[in-house]
Amino acid sequence: MNNFIFYNPTRLLFGEGMIAQLPVQIPADKRIMVTFGGGSVKTNGVYEQVTKALEGRDYTEFWGIESNPDISTLKKAIEQGKEKNIDFLLAVGGGSVIDGTKLIAAGICYNGDAWDLVKKGSAQDTIPLGTVLTIPATGSEMNNGAVISCRETHEKYPFFSQHPVFSILDPTITFSLPDFQIACGLADTFVHVMEQYMTKTNESDLMDRWSESILRTLVQIAPQIKENKQNYRLMSEFMMSATMALNGFIAMGVSEDWATHMIGHELTALHGMTHGQTLAIVFPGTLRTLADKKRDKILQYGERIWGVTSGVPSVRLALTIEKTEEFFKSLGLKTRLDEAGIGDDTIEEIARRFEERGVAFGEDGDVTGEVARRILQNCKSIQPSTPAEENGMKTVVLASFKSDVRAHMLQDLLKNEGIECMLQGEYTAQVMSYLSGMEIKVTVFEKDYARAFEILKAAFPEKV
Ligand code: NZQ
Ligand code: ZN
Repeated sequence: MNNFIFYNPTRLLFGEGMIAQLPVQIPADKRIMVTFGGGSVKTNGVYEQVTKALEGRDYTEFWGIESNPDISTLKKAIEQGKEKNIDFLLAVGGGSVIDGTKLIAAGICYNGDAWDLVKKGSAQDTIPLGTVLTIPATGSEMNNGAVISCRETHEKYPFFSQHPVFSILDPTITFSLPDFQIACGLADTFVHVMEQYMTKTNESDLMDRWSESILRTLVQIAPQIKENKQNYRLMSEFMMSATMALNGFIAMGVSEDWATHMIGHELTALHGMTHGQTLAIVFPGTLRTLADKKRDKILQYGERIWGVTSGVPSVRLALTIEKTEEFFKSLGLKTRLDEAGIGDDTIEEIARRFEERGVAFGEDGDVTGEVARRILQNCKSIQPSTPAEENGMKTVVLASFKSDVRAHMLQDLLKNEGIECMLQGEYTAQVMSYLSGMEIKVTVFEKDYARAFEILKAAFPEKV
């Protein structure tokens, strides 16, 4: 384990009805400003619960903190906060409202332009803030980070200041979330874990297992949530997974990457793409590009999360990356730049920006503009070559099956003859079995095709 300092003072209040605890959490003499997003809280009962809990208290409201909070909106809130001598902030919303409120908390104590604080990257002087979280995703409810945008200049940067004093997590609040926001929240949580896990092996077994427990929980609950998004138990698991994924716990003593996030932020800054959606596109590309460097950790992850235990390492790498992409697809997200209508000009602009800023990310600080370019090139729809293919081993589809049992039978028969074989789309077919037309492809190396075809013909004559 590497040296570290861990500090997390946020008090969590978890469970149905916990908004009623607000008066106990905010000292009675505080002049409060409550910050909100675009209005979802007015349709799901959260606003009523908050105002009821604050009855008799000295508070004002600030509305309109948008997704990817914009500096111009936040400046207005800072002005209002200064005018009214606000000394406590209550953010009621998702990551955007909470992040924006973290900047407001610092801006109220600052005499200059609040964008300077963002460019500087951090602030010490703040007024306290509490949160009522409405969407599991960012972990902002229990960390000291924020990400602030400037639409005018198409920029988006991280900013660090204080942890919330408390955060209220009531899973019933999430019942009103649209499917797309749930998908983006699941993807964001998954990639937060990956940024702290998909780095080096043997730094900490404990942290690895802790991260893997969150990943496995997400993989388990995601298809169930799709079927029933108003299930208290499932949404509780989701909420706590998101909080635990980015509150500093799984980062203790281990390396961190964050290249996927920094590239994703540029896609949002340039195209307004939703945060979780950017990650579902970029992360598989990061794995493809850095498969050699991250090889041992990908193999560990493939084995422990996806059960990829057989085959030569190059095949296991390819299969694990494919399963990761299939997972994002199963959430209903896009996984390629072309699907989002994004082309080479954006790739070049992001590489240029990284170079111009002189930044480099990743656990070894080597994801430069040039590497970001390669990652983004590997996010295009043209199927990039797998590590096995790069070694001159082209793969071809031998047969497709609706049933995973039959696909596995063929796989076993081929294995008995010493023929390496991969199953593609297995995960999607399993979790989306209610969709007709989902098939599992059995793929072999081209050099083995003739022999494999004979085995297919003998075992499944209807397939030839
Ligand atoms: O604005 P309203 O009307 O409330 O609607 C929101 C918004 O449109 C809606 N929503 C939220 N809770 C709801 C709901 N709709 C129905 N029912 C509910 N219970 O969902 C939409 C998205 O909300 P937003 O706050 O933007 O989502 P999220 O929590 O994903 O936050 C995204 C922002 O957080 C940053 C992202 O970059 C992005 O700017 N991040 C912050 C991090 C941090 N502070 O540590 C880390 C992350 O990696 C991320 O970068
Ligand atoms: Zn994120």
